[in-house]
Amino acid sequence: MKKKILVTGGCGYIGSHTLIELIESGRYDVLCVDSCVRSTPETLDRVKNITGVEVKNYKVDICDKDAFFKVFEENDDIAGIIHFAAYKAVGESVEQPLMYYRNNLGALANVLEACQKYHISHLLFSSSCSVYGDVKTLPVNEETPMGEAFCPYAHTKQIGEAMIRSMQVPNPGTTSLILRYFNPVGAHPSGMNGELSPDKPNNLIPIIMHVASGVLPQMTVFGTDYDTRDGSCIRDYLHVSDIADAHVKAMDYLVEHRNTDGCEVFNLGSGNGVTVLEMLDAAEKVVGHRLNYVLGDRRPGDIPAIYGDSSKAEQLLHWHCRYNVDDMIASAWKWENYLKENVK
Ligand code: UD1
Repeated sequence: MKKKILVTGGCGYIGSHTLIELIESGRYDVLCVDSCVRSTPETLDRVKNITGVEVKNYKVDICDKDAFFKVFEENDDIAGIIHFAAYKAVGESVEQPLMYYRNNLGALANVLEACQKYHISHLLFSSSCSVYGDVKTLPVNEETPMGEAFCPYAHTKQIGEAMIRSMQVPNPGTTSLILRYFNPVGAHPSGMNGELSPDKPNNLIPIIMHVASGVLPQMTVFGTDYDTRDGSCIRDYLHVSDIADAHVKAMDYLVEHRNTDGCEVFNLGSGNGVTVLEMLDAAEKVVGHRLNYVLGDRRPGDIPAIYGDSSKAEQLLHWHCRYNVDDMIASAWKWENYLKENVK
């Protein structure tokens, strides 16, 4: 029998791709809670176009405990929660730290209380490689100690992880996995779902796509004097559908009681460090023309290099990346063109 999974932030970027993978696994029914303050309900139309399944969304702010708990009163058969809903812009978190602490940690507190009150068996939590801070020893594995958080966003992930761990004492009935993502990029391979970035995106791939399609006239490579092979920053990019697939496999792992601890941590990365200039080179090949970029100064707060070791997830979750950098860019490019045609 299929298990029912509640996905918070299911109208968002990783959340919607995870809905697709959960549905397509054939093992899970899904339900969404998303206030749509940073996403749009039309995302679920795209999920339906791809999967044929209509996903019900509760348009609820998780920080509103009474409204959130009503979802559990109406659905007494929820087996697991995948908690994506959170703010995630590094720069904004520096400008408005209290908004980040209040939203990201207040919501998580309500999710954890719901797990206890409504006897939810399993919880997956979206964390980030930013919890490691500016690490010197690469690749990063799960034993790598956390470093000082370089922004409030990263700090909310560190505190969030600690909150989940500390709930193991009062609520051992919920088993949890913390998934630390590296840089999720790309779009569904169909090109029919992807990231709806803000008008002025901050992340590399959405910016590259906007430059490639002419929405932005030019972009800047932030720093070419780092101690890396070509002077630009190194990151570990992985395809959003691979991250989504990891959530299905992580839920399987908990449902099948293969976990050895009430709260385990997994890195999700491709294991490959790629420089900004290498990404631009790959993007030029995929889109078929030169991209207008200039070499510029370092962006404040950027760390020179980070990439992960995901062998724990490969061994225990039986997960591996299906898509390479070219696939990531090709799918993002398809989505950029789909957006132009279909989303006004
Ligand atoms: C950061 C966080 C990550 C978070 C993500 C979302 C770290 C290690 N990671 O990723 O946890 O989920 O933000 O906000 O901090 N770049 C350019 N030109 C541009 C834009 C970006 O050169 O116009 C470069 C950046 O300097 C960086 C790389 O591209 O080296 C990737 O940047 P970005 O996509 O913003 O992600 P991170 O900052 O790595």
